[in-house]
Amino acid sequence: MSIGVFDSGVGGLTVHRHLVNRFPKADFIYLADQAHAPYGVRGGEEIVELTKAGCIRLFDEGANLVVLACNTASAIALRRLQQTWLPGYRRELGRPVNVLGIIVPTIEAATGQPWEQEVERRGDKIEKVDVIGVFCTAATAASRVYEIEIDKRRQDLAAFSEACTGLAGLIEDGAPREQLAEVIAAHCQVLKTRIGRWPDRVVLGCTHYEIVGDLFRAALPEGTPLIHQPSAVADALERYFERHPDYDMGTSGRRRFLTTGKPGAQSDLVEAFWGEPLRFEAA
Ligand code: DGL
Repeated sequence: MSIGVFDSGVGGLTVHRHLVNRFPKADFIYLADQAHAPYGVRGGEEIVELTKAGCIRLFDEGANLVVLACNTASAIALRRLQQTWLPGYRRELGRPVNVLGIIVPTIEAATGQPWEQEVERRGDKIEKVDVIGVFCTAATAASRVYEIEIDKRRQDLAAFSEACTGLAGLIEDGAPREQLAEVIAAHCQVLKTRIGRWPDRVVLGCTHYEIVGDLFRAALPEGTPLIHQPSAVADALERYFERHPDYDMGTSGRRRFLTTGKPGAQSDLVEAFWGEPLRFEAA
């Protein structure tokens, strides 16, 4: 059995890398739905169906658990799949499969509180509100998940999502870093204008963006704290396995990379991030 990691494309590799470091002996299988990337400009129903198809593919390959290493799929599809599809599918398969997202752990890291802890509104005067800037896809921004869920938990924190439409696609296609730097700098400025000042902290709320995390850091004021989604997800998965000690995640350290797109090598941009050649098999 293995841990499945799913994304529309190469973005989920940023999460995969941290999961592998945290669970080196586990078997991992990664699926990039590159035939349908990017997801962020697609409609909700389409994102739900594509995410479901990706999960089925990974369960067919022997994954017990699928981590949606994609904010867009986590924001749009996860709850629907957990409520309307997964219970029946589990019965059909006859094994305890599960799907987890990456937004809950990120919001836990951003608020410093467990997910269950919502704020009690007593009308207290708030002295100062810190702003978290969330760079994400159009679909994640439209869902307002970061705004809504942070607001439920912390009255002294406000999230502002900045939809970086097109950026995940450029990263997926391995666009030149100079071009990416310009697009990122422009979005940072737009967010600053919308907030009226620089954000106090930042979330790269699209896993593709972490591939060029250094370009975000360069475009933001020096030292802006970044809530690191891949580490937050690895921490959450560790807690999940503590609660589910019987979970079979494999023991041979096997790594497989599948794509619904073109098999073979990825772009230079991705290989530079990964640090070694990366070969994908046809899914
Ligand atoms: N990497 C994904 C995310 O975190 C999806 C980007 C896309 O396909 O638009 O949202």
